[in-house]
Amino acid sequence: MIDDTLRPVIVAKKTNDAHNMVSFELADPDGAELPAFSAGSHIDVTIPGGLVRQYSLCNSSSERNRYVIGVWNDGNSRGGSKALHAQVNEGDTLQVGLPRNRFRVPRSTKRAILLARGIGVTPILSIADYLKSQNIPFQLHYVYAMMSPGSFDGMIKDSKFAENTKFYYESTELNQLLDAGALLKDRPEDTQLFICGADWWQDPILKTAAQKGWAEERIHVERFTAKVPAAILDKVFDVKIASSGIVYKVPGDKTVTAFLEEQGVKIPTSCEQGMCGTCRIKVLEGDVDHRDKRLSSQQKDEGFFLACVSRAKGDLLVLDL
Ligand code: FES
Repeated sequence: MIDDTLRPVIVAKKTNDAHNMVSFELADPDGAELPAFSAGSHIDVTIPGGLVRQYSLCNSSSERNRYVIGVWNDGNSRGGSKALHAQVNEGDTLQVGLPRNRFRVPRSTKRAILLARGIGVTPILSIADYLKSQNIPFQLHYVYAMMSPGSFDGMIKDSKFAENTKFYYESTELNQLLDAGALLKDRPEDTQLFICGADWWQDPILKTAAQKGWAEERIHVERFTAKVPAAILDKVFDVKIASSGIVYKVPGDKTVTAFLEEQGVKIPTSCEQGMCGTCRIKVLEGDVDHRDKRLSSQQKDEGFFLACVSRAKGDLLVLDL
C-alpha cells in the first residue's frame, strides 16, 4: 500500500559516495519544511516506472529541510536501486511518502550498541546522531562492505559521533571483522542493541546476542534486504475468508497477497518482502509457516501472519477478512 500522503520532492543533490553507492538529498520543491521524522525512519520512494521502494533516512532527525537516502546498487537489485542510480538526477522530482519508523529508539534507552555493515549503516547514522544529541552513551561498530570502501566514512568522520565509531575494513587482507561474542558479553541490562546489515551477516550476530542473554525487547533489527525464497513450486494450500466463507486454493508459485488480489480480495501491501508489516492479517485457524522478518514471537503467538510471504504448514488457513 502506497502512503496516500505522497508528496513531491526534488533531488537537491546526488552524490557518488563510493563504488555502487549514491546518496540523494531530497528537498521540498518550494523550500518548505518536510514532515518531521524520528531516528531510524524510512520513506517510500516512488521511482520512475512506478516502482515503490523503501529507503532509510540517514541524516539528522533534527533537520527539516531535507531527507537523505543512501542507495546501494548491487547485483540483486529488483530494479528500484538500479533505476535511481541510472535515471534520477539533480533537479528531478520524485514522490515520497510520510516517514515511518519500525526501528525506533525506545524512550527508555540509557545506553546502546549500534552494529552496521555496508549500506545497513543508513538508519544507524540517524540513530547515532540522535543518541549523541541526547547524551546517551553508545558505540557504533561499522563494517565496510568489501565492495564499497569509503561509503559514509567522510560523513561519519565529520559528524559529532565520530569518536563513538569504530570502523572494520572487511577485506581479505585486513579482515578485521567484529567479534560479536566479545561485544555483546556482560553488557548492563539497560543496553539496547540496534543492528542493520545483510541477513547472512546479522543473523549469526542475533543468535550470539540470544546466547549471551539479550532479551528480545532490547534487540532492534532493521532488514533492508529480505532474502525471501521464491514461492516456485511451493506447497499448495487453501485459504478461507472468514466473512464470506469462500475458500481459495493458493498455488505453489504465488503468494497469498498476489493470488487473492487476482481473485478480487485486496490485502494492502507495501514492501512485499515480509519486512514492513502492512499486510498483517489475523489467522483464525490453521498452522502458519512464518517466513517474514518482522513479527515478534508474541505477535505470532497471537495468530498474526504476514500474507505477502508466509504460507500454511497444513492444508488450510482461515483468515480474519
Ligand atoms: S507487505 Fe510488507 S510485510 Fe507484507
